[in-house]
Amino acid sequence: MKPKTLIIGSSGKTGSRILSRLENAGYPARLGSRKVTPAFDWEKPEEWESVVQGVDQVYISFQPDLAVPSSLKAIQTLVDVCKKNKVKRLVLLSGRGEPEARACEQVVQKSGLEWTILRASWFYQNFSEGMFQEQILGGTVLFPQITTKEPFVDLDDLADLALDSLITDKHRNKLYELTGPELWSFREAFAFIAEVTNQTIPFEEMPLDEYISTLKGFGVPENVTWLIDYLFRTVLDGRNESLVNDLELALGRKPKDFRTYVKETAKSGIWKISQPSV
Ligand SMILES: NC(=O)c1ccc[n+]([C@@H]2O[C@H](COP(=O)([O-])OP(=O)(O)OC[C@H]3O[C@@H](n4cnc5c(N)ncnc54)[C@H](OP(=O)(O)O)[C@@H]3O)[C@@H](O)[C@H]2O)c1
Repeated sequence: MKPKTLIIGSSGKTGSRILSRLENAGYPARLGSRKVTPAFDWEKPEEWESVVQGVDQVYISFQPDLAVPSSLKAIQTLVDVCKKNKVKRLVLLSGRGEPEARACEQVVQKSGLEWTILRASWFYQNFSEGMFQEQILGGTVLFPQITTKEPFVDLDDLADLALDSLITDKHRNKLYELTGPELWSFREAFAFIAEVTNQTIPFEEMPLDEYISTLKGFGVPENVTWLIDYLFRTVLDGRNESLVNDLELALGRKPKDFRTYVKETAKSGIWKISQPSV
C-alpha cells in the first residue's frame, strides 16, 4: 500500500509543490492547513492528533520559521503526537545557518522514526511568490545594506527531493544542505530580474537598524520585524556564503540555476510593474 502523507503547509510554497508531485505519482495525501477540516494550526497543538491520525508520514514546514523561540516545543510536541499515532517517517524543512533550527532537527533525528532533513538556503521563489515580489511590484526595493552572497535554491528542486524522500527509502535518515549552484547578492538578483523583465527596479539600501525602523513605521508587526532582523543579522552574516553539492548528489542532476529560474518565471508576467495611470 502506498503511504499516506500529511503535508503541513500544503498551501504554501514548498507544500503545494510536494502535494502536486505526490498526487501526480498517485500517492495519497492529507492537507495540513488552517483552511481545511480537520485543520492544522501551529497555534493549536490540542488539535494536531486528529490531523495526524491515519497518516504514515509527515512533511513538516514550520511557521513562521524554526528560528523563532516557540519552534522547539512545537516540533517536540508534533513528534510526540506522530509517535503516538504510529507515523513512520518525517521529512523536515529546515533553514541553513540557524542554530534554533538545528535543535529542531535533532528532535526529529532522535525521534526513533525514519527522517530526512532538508536544510535549505533562501528560496528563489521569495522573489516571485514571497515578499520580494511585492517589493518589485511596489516599484522600489528597499533593502538592508547586505553585501553577503546567498546560494539561493529552487523550490522545484527541493520539492523533487522531498517527493523522493517520501516515496523511496533512498534518503532515509539523511540530512541534506540545499543550495543552488551559484552565489548571488540580493542587489545582483534584483538587477538580473530588472534586466530580464526589461524594466527599472530601483534598489535602495539602508543600514539594517534603519530598515527595521522603516518597516515598523509601515506598521509591520513586531514578531515579523523580529524575524526579519534575525534573518538578516544572523543567517546573512556570511555563514552561508558557500555552495554544497548535496542536491546534485541526491537528485542525480544539476540543480536549476538562478538565471534559468528568472527567465522562466518572467514569462508569466508576475514581475511586470504596471505604469501609474495619468
Ligand atoms: N523562504 C525561504 O527562503 C526559506 C529558506 C529556508 C527555510 N525556510 C523555511 O520554510 C518554511 C516555510 O515554508 P513555505 O515557504 O513552504 O511556507 P509558506 O509558503 O511561507 O507558507 C505555508 C503555509 O503555512 C500556513 N500557515 C501560516 N501560519 C500558520 C499557522 N499558524 N499554522 C498552520 N499553518 C500556517 C499557511 O497555510 P494556510 O493558510 O493554508 O493555513 C501557508 O500557506 C519556514 O519554516 C521557513 O523557515 C524558508
